[in-house]
Amino acid sequence: MKLKEEVILITGGASGLGHALVERFVAEGAKVAVLDKCADRLQQLESDHGEDVVCIVGDVRSMEDQKLAASRCIAKFGRIDTLIPNAAIWDYNTALVDLPEDSIDKAFDEVFQINVKGYILAVKACLPALVASRGSVICTISNAGFYPNGGGPLYTATKHAVVGLVRELAFELAPYVRVNGVGVGGINTDLRGPCSLGMSEQSISNVPLAELLQDVLPIGRLPDAEEYTGAYVFFATRGDSAPATGALLNYDGGMGVRGLFSAVGGKDLLEKLNID
Ligand SMILES: NC(=O)c1ccc[n+]([C@@H]2O[C@H](COP(=O)([O-])OP(=O)(O)OC[C@H]3O[C@@H](n4cnc5c(N)ncnc54)[C@H](O)[C@@H]3O)[C@@H](O)[C@H]2O)c1
Repeated sequence: MKLKEEVILITGGASGLGHALVERFVAEGAKVAVLDKCADRLQQLESDHGEDVVCIVGDVRSMEDQKLAASRCIAKFGRIDTLIPNAAIWDYNTALVDLPEDSIDKAFDEVFQINVKGYILAVKACLPALVASRGSVICTISNAGFYPNGGGPLYTATKHAVVGLVRELAFELAPYVRVNGVGVGGINTDLRGPCSLGMSEQSISNVPLAELLQDVLPIGRLPDAEEYTGAYVFFATRGDSAPATGALLNYDGGMGVRGLFSAVGGKDLLEKLNID
């Protein structure tokens, strides 16, 4: 157990990647607080984990809710060692040409408020506790923080904004709090869309990601949510990641090393090396 007695606060931990992170951190010996808007799933999480997990129902766009999450975490576990801003929504790759002109104001505000302001407020609310613990922040980014076509302009711009946020906060909070980011790739989760585009009931679980990505990812398949959690454990483990701040980990199945004519350059390696 790498994280015994460490205290982690995760936003959006009721579902998908955040839920897998809660499970992994508890398995690593940590105590975990979760801020999420989904009360039913949070209730389930608390009943699954008893004293190891505390849940706070709230909206990441609200400073009041973020402060409540930080204070409930400290009241229950005494400190915050690692904050993981993670809750977000996706724009379902809505291209600029398809964004209805009269929805842009509201859609921009909604996606940026959840995906970017939600991260800024989380750090603001936890800052005194993070400085006191000499803790760290691990932001969930996305392949869309680095490359086009993982979202439309709204989602892609928010994830690029998170890259900037990691760098700025890594500078501003040094030397007391380290700030890093994990650029996860596609995951079969319940990721939703903006209400303002009529997409709040759409779930990425209905998109055939495994099928769409298997031939374009160098690793040849879509990873499970659980498989993405190791990077977060690494950044949360004080000894192992001590030199890391302002670091951005592309953790997306190799999207940045796809070739010009094929995603996978080594398809014939087994044959050429005579390996079964
Ligand atoms: N699923 C993918 O393919 C994928 C790919 C790259 C990056 N990501 C990133 O992974 C992270 C987690 O997403 P996921 O795929 O696990 O989605 P998910 O919808 O399964 O989980 C997100 C959680 O955030 C919560 N949430 C959303 N808006 C909120 C708000 N305003 N206030 C409080 N809670 C809110 C939801 O209730 C949900 O529990 C996001 O940052 C997302 O951008 C996902």
